[in-house]
Amino acid sequence: MSSEPTKLPIAAKETKSGHVHTCHSRFEPGPAVVLERSPLVPNLQLLKVQAPAVAAKIQPGQFIMIRTDEDGERIPLTVADWNRDEGWVSCVFMEVGTTTYKLGKLEAGDELATFVGPLGKALEIENWGTVICAGGCYGIACIYPIARALKEKGNRVISLVEGRSSFLLYWIERLESVSDQVLISTKDRSIGGTGYCQGMATEVFERESVQRVIAEGCTFMMYQMAEATRPLGIHTVVSLNPVMIDGTGMCGACRVLVGGETKFACVDGPDFDAHKVDWDLLLSRRQAYLGPETESSEK
Ligand SMILES: Cc1cc2nc3c(=O)[nH]c(=O)nc-3n(C[C@H](O)[C@H](O)[C@H](O)COP(=O)(O)OP(=O)(O)OC[C@H]3O[C@@H](n4cnc5c(N)ncnc54)[C@H](O)[C@@H]3O)c2cc1C
Ligand code: FES
Repeated sequence: MSSEPTKLPIAAKETKSGHVHTCHSRFEPGPAVVLERSPLVPNLQLLKVQAPAVAAKIQPGQFIMIRTDEDGERIPLTVADWNRDEGWVSCVFMEVGTTTYKLGKLEAGDELATFVGPLGKALEIENWGTVICAGGCYGIACIYPIARALKEKGNRVISLVEGRSSFLLYWIERLESVSDQVLISTKDRSIGGTGYCQGMATEVFERESVQRVIAEGCTFMMYQMAEATRPLGIHTVVSLNPVMIDGTGMCGACRVLVGGETKFACVDGPDFDAHKVDWDLLLSRRQAYLGPETESSEK
C-alpha cells in the first residue's frame, strides 16, 4: 500500500438542525450538502455530495464516513468518483439497514451531519502490465476510479463485473471508457455466462498473463477471487469491509487478521493482500452483528 493516512485535524461544523458538533475530521469549510441522490438499479443508489476538502485529496481505494443526522450512526462508504475542480464526491450505496435506508431518503440540498474523509490508505497504483479489476454490487462503482487510475498509468485493464441479472448492472459504459475490456457475468445468463468474477478471471488466466488482481464487492466474492489466484501466485488485493465505528483506528471494531498480524481495516487498509487475509475469522466476525442489525432495521 502506498500512502500513509495523515493525522486527523479537529473540525467543528453546524448542521441544518442548528447543532454545532465537533469531530475528528478532514476540515470541510462548509457543511457537506447533498447534490444528488438517485437510484441506479433496484437497491443501489448514487449519492453525490458537495465536499471540496474531501474532493481535493481523495484517492482510489479510500473511503468516507457519513452520518445523515445527529442521532444517526456513522457508516463507511468507498468513493466511486469525484471532481476536484467542482468539489464533489460520489458514492454508490446499497440499502441494507437503518443508516443506508436513511441515506436513501436524502434529497438534493440536505446537509449531512458528518462527511469525513479521505480515510484509509490510498490503493497502490503502478504500471504492472495487465491488471484485472473485479467488482460486484457496490464494488462495480468502487473499481471505476481504480480502473481509471490504472489506465492512466499505462496498464492493460480488464474489468470484470458480476450480478444476479442484467437489470442489476450499472456503469458498464463508464467502465468501458477506462478499460481495455469489460467482461460481464450474470447468474440468470441475461448477459454473459454464470461464472461470476472468479470464473471469468480463470478464463482470462488461461489466455493471457495477468500481473495483478484487485477485487471489490461482497466478502464471499473477494474470498473466491483470492482462491482463484492463490495457486497461480498472482498478487491480489481486496478491499475489506468489516464493521467500522469511528474509522480512525480508535475503537478496534474493524480489526482483521492479515499475515498472522492484527490490522485495523480503517487505518491499515481497507486494501490488503488477499492471500494473507484470515477469511474464516473475517466472515465469522461479520456474522456476529447480524442480530442487532436486524433489530435496528426492523425498528
Ligand atoms: C471500508 C468500507 C467501505 C464500504 N463501502 C461501501 C460502499 O461503497 N457502498 C455500500 O453500499 N456499502 C459499503 N460498505 C458497507 C457499509 O458500510 C454497510 O453496508 C453499512 O454500514 C450498513 O449500515 P446500515 O445501518 O444501513 O445497516 P446495518 O443494519 O448496520 O448492517 C447491514 C450490513 O452492513 C454491515 N455493516 C454494518 N455496519 C457496518 C459498518 N459500520 N461498517 C461496515 N459494515 C457494516 C453488516 O455487517 C451487515 O451485513 C463499506 C464498508 C466498509 C468497511
Ligand atoms: S473503525 Fe474503529 S478502529 Fe477501525
